[in-house]
Amino acid sequence: MTDKHQPPLHTFMDLLSAEMGSRLGNDPAREAAHRRIFGNWTLETLQTSGEAPQRQPACRHLAECFADLEKIGGNLGKLAATLRDIEPHLNWNNQAERRKSAVLAQNYADSFIVGPGGFVPSSTFEIGVSVMAPHTTYPDHRHPPEELYLVLSQGEWRQNADAWHEPGVGGVVYNPPDIVHAMRAEAKPLFAIWCLPLDNTPHS
Ligand SMILES: [Fe+2]
Repeated sequence: MTDKHQPPLHTFMDLLSAEMGSRLGNDPAREAAHRRIFGNWTLETLQTSGEAPQRQPACRHLAECFADLEKIGGNLGKLAATLRDIEPHLNWNNQAERRKSAVLAQNYADSFIVGPGGFVPSSTFEIGVSVMAPHTTYPDHRHPPEELYLVLSQGEWRQNADAWHEPGVGGVVYNPPDIVHAMRAEAKPLFAIWCLPLDNTPHS
């Protein structure tokens, strides 16, 4: 039974860890990143503020993204359904102000499900979700933590000046620490979950 006051975050984490873990393609770098993110996770108790979650213009594409995912079935379909149950609780942001992009303000949004300042606070890892309108590019950016994406739609990813590639629904993208990367949506909205380890203590 789903209680709308208890978003299924543990189920989401279990399904996300398992789905990503099964889609790493025997790549040691991806497997190590997956262990750093999901190896020992716990979730803090949720403190709901009672305020209405913040939306963004790009949220207009969420219904289409979830409708497309409903056809998938299997554990990836279950993960998408769980995310759909959590989504009404999430605050959506966009970084358009920081990037001074009116186009992105209208066409890109993300939400921190777990992480510093996220729906569930965490200082050790970050999990978020992005939605982007068709025919939009999220420009080159970089960040010190490595990153794994689970792709939930059509859309293309790029690293450095390499060719764009399309991972496809269920594909995993691995961005090593500090690599320059970008993503773009073509005919369909882009929808993806991203995960970053934030624990910077040296691993022996
Ligand atoms: Fe990134």
